[in-house]
Amino acid sequence: MRIDVITVLPELLKSPFEASILKRAIEKGLVEVHFHNIRDYTDKSYNQVDDYQFGGGAGMVLMIEPIDKCISKLKSEREYDEVIYMTPDGETLNQKTANKFSLYENIIILCGHYKGVDQRVRDAFITKEISIGDYVLSGGELGAAVLCDTIIRLIPGVLSNETSALTDTFQDDLLAPPVYTRPAEYKGMKVPDILLSGNFPKIEAWREEEALKRTEKLRPDLLK
Ligand code: ADE
Repeated sequence: MRIDVITVLPELLKSPFEASILKRAIEKGLVEVHFHNIRDYTDKSYNQVDDYQFGGGAGMVLMIEPIDKCISKLKSEREYDEVIYMTPDGETLNQKTANKFSLYENIIILCGHYKGVDQRVRDAFITKEISIGDYVLSGGELGAAVLCDTIIRLIPGVLSNETSALTDTFQDDLLAPPVYTRPAEYKGMKVPDILLSGNFPKIEAWREEEALKRTEKLRPDLLK
């Protein structure tokens, strides 16, 4: 898979890809992530990429021309499954969407900034608008990092134990059951006996039951 991220602040985005699971996925060649600075696509003085809103109002708006140039160049090089715009008024990201995106070959993620992008960018180039939650970030970069993380960990071969993504919270619309590790007893607090029994069918049944109980208690909305 290839992800092209278009942003005015690539430095805000790079560090999540330089550690741990995402770094290993890139090193193993399972995903390529490329950053494109919108400022590299402007002819204006001082590398200007934003301007005042028509009609007045506070806040700058990212201009269409440099974004058009960047997206058009990428699209001339390969086909994209989706051109995603990170914005608080987009569709809220969930596991189902992440699963779908993880099957794509090539995606573009455009990060908004300031007041956002000229509406004509959204109308002409964007195929999907994604929000990571009902709150406002200073820009789309941290949202794009969240989106990339949730997609990349689902690509086969990225997680060492392939089944572990399948048992994550939210797969099957259930929260994950509780997990324990050694010691079996700590300051009088014990691990449930069933997990030490070696009876794997029973352990599996216990996990399913606990996942259901936890979901009923903490996120009953998922069961509707
Ligand atoms: N940009 C600003 N706020 C955002 C959000 N909640 N999700 C995605 N992109 C954003």
